Amino acid sequence: MCGIVGFTGNNEAAPILLDGLSKLEYRGYDSAGIAVRNGDAEPEIVKAKGKLKVLKEMTNDGKAVKGACGIGHTRWATHGEPSTVNAHPHCSDDENVIAVHNGIIENYQELREKLIKKGYTFKSETDTEVAVKLIDYYYKKYLGTPVDALNHALVRIRGSYALAVMFKDYPGEIYAARKDSPMIIGVTGGESYLASDVPAILKYTRNVYYIGNMELAKLTKGAVAFYNLDGEEIQKEMKTIEWDAEAAEKSGYEHFMLKEIHEQPKVIKDTINSVLTDENISFESVGLSDEDMKNIQQVYIVACGSAYHVGMVAQYVIEELTSLSVRVELASEFRYRQMKLAKNSLAIIISQSGETADSLAALRLCKDKGVRTLGIVNVVGSSIAREADNVFYTLAGPEISVATTKAYSCQLVAAYLLAMQFAKARGEISDERFAQLVEEINTIPEKIEKILEDKERLQWFASKVVNIKDAFFIGRGIDYAVGMEGSLKLKEISYIHSEAYAAGELKHGPISLIEDGTVVFSVVTQSALYEKTISNMVEVKSRGAKLFGLTTYGNYAMEDVADFTVYTPRIDNLFAASLSVVPLQLLSYYVSVGKGYDVDKPRNLAKSVTVE
Ligand code: F6R
Repeated sequence: MCGIVGFTGNNEAAPILLDGLSKLEYRGYDSAGIAVRNGDAEPEIVKAKGKLKVLKEMTNDGKAVKGACGIGHTRWATHGEPSTVNAHPHCSDDENVIAVHNGIIENYQELREKLIKKGYTFKSETDTEVAVKLIDYYYKKYLGTPVDALNHALVRIRGSYALAVMFKDYPGEIYAARKDSPMIIGVTGGESYLASDVPAILKYTRNVYYIGNMELAKLTKGAVAFYNLDGEEIQKEMKTIEWDAEAAEKSGYEHFMLKEIHEQPKVIKDTINSVLTDENISFESVGLSDEDMKNIQQVYIVACGSAYHVGMVAQYVIEELTSLSVRVELASEFRYRQMKLAKNSLAIIISQSGETADSLAALRLCKDKGVRTLGIVNVVGSSIAREADNVFYTLAGPEISVATTKAYSCQLVAAYLLAMQFAKARGEISDERFAQLVEEINTIPEKIEKILEDKERLQWFASKVVNIKDAFFIGRGIDYAVGMEGSLKLKEISYIHSEAYAAGELKHGPISLIEDGTVVFSVVTQSALYEKTISNMVEVKSRGAKLFGLTTYGNYAMEDVADFTVYTPRIDNLFAASLSVVPLQLLSYYVSVGKGYDVDKPRNLAKSVTVE
């Protein structure tokens, strides 16, 4: 949440900062601001409420602000409403210290009171202003270096932060610190960049350093030095980002979401091919041997939002293919439960960003309890990727739209591949069935292409439901898990109230909500459950519901029940989610477009939820 950028070099900083922020706007878009310094002159701070374009207009795309060193921020409000005063950067009264911040400072009230007693005053309601003034306080108290001041302040701060700070006495320099909030640093040809996420600097360099938890960095033109909390210099290895810059652009699509939906066949294929060659799956690169897989008895899948929905699908697939016992948990709940974790278990943490605060906390909890952890993560070098015992990288590339599509789909195939190999390693699947599943998984990309070819039908249907107030998604088994994802997609980008129910649960309460015209989306791909769900559809239809039926080719009897039917290609029941989710993604997309909403940046949401 919140995007941070920093630049120091020989070029004008403001256009670079604004360009970087435009790539990070998916992280927050309540307000934005920059602070730029021209040599050792006083910095110029420009802030604006609203989307980045307001700031761009105010600064003539940055051309009106001069200087080759600066920091910038795009905000997702936590403490304090979205406003110009609460927008970052924040500075000490004498502009001695200026900073932007991503994260939450939990003890900010206590620190604020301490600083007020020391004579500080506050203009904003933000925790960031408290951090800035605390750094200023220690800088002046100990008359040390910026690194000393930051170290003193950081040991007093509880919570998470990625901070980029400029000090009046150190023109041309930017100081950075992080704890549980992402930050990367790029250095190339006499220039240094800092950002909370890769797309912001991809255009300039692929050579990056990952600043570790509770570490500090000093950026000067074309150089960076790292320090630990004792102020000692530490060495870091440079890493190369493999994503190509094109991947973070819209490439002619109207929205990132539509582009990312269309990228699914390719990125799914890439993810499959990363571990599947010919007929064999190997998790050698992940660090999971067949022996490890044999010894595991219990699997916990922990995640948030759509990644949790992947976990729900994975549970059905792993349970069907293996004798493993599986529990799927919401990370935000799991981390505060007193769950007794079984011996010989594996905790799978699924996260696109690898930075979700609750998922990261759940991972740490599992590690503390001695449970082995496996991250299914999209962002290389992210916190979950670095801290998990093993990592299976999904190869979705940068996902910019706040509503996930391609990362979700890559997570699904990652889960299938794990389930298949668990079954094989444990001798719980015949060679024939394994080979059949290999063949089937390889058909997912081309079958999604087929679904995408027929998207106009969904666009038409979306236009008919654009004004509905409520929607329900029903299904059984894997179809229920897909319904949960379809429902989340619809509500998050079209703001239509929507709920997903296991179809068999309807009679236990929710059916009382069905009235004339209520739209019920029914996912019906699981052959063993087909008739059961159809019966539930009939039940709601007889109470006035309008039915959208999503099923596989061949199940034509669906048309006798549903008012509108969409077919997906036939595939092994275990992999049906990969196909049925696509029409639901498209439907949500077109409803949001039809309502005139900002599809890629839905209100109140941010791409990477680095606060609790
Ligand atoms: C919904 C969505 C979110 C994320 C959730 C977890 O479209 O994107 O529900 O799935 O915030 O994020 P990651 O996967 O980054 O941990």
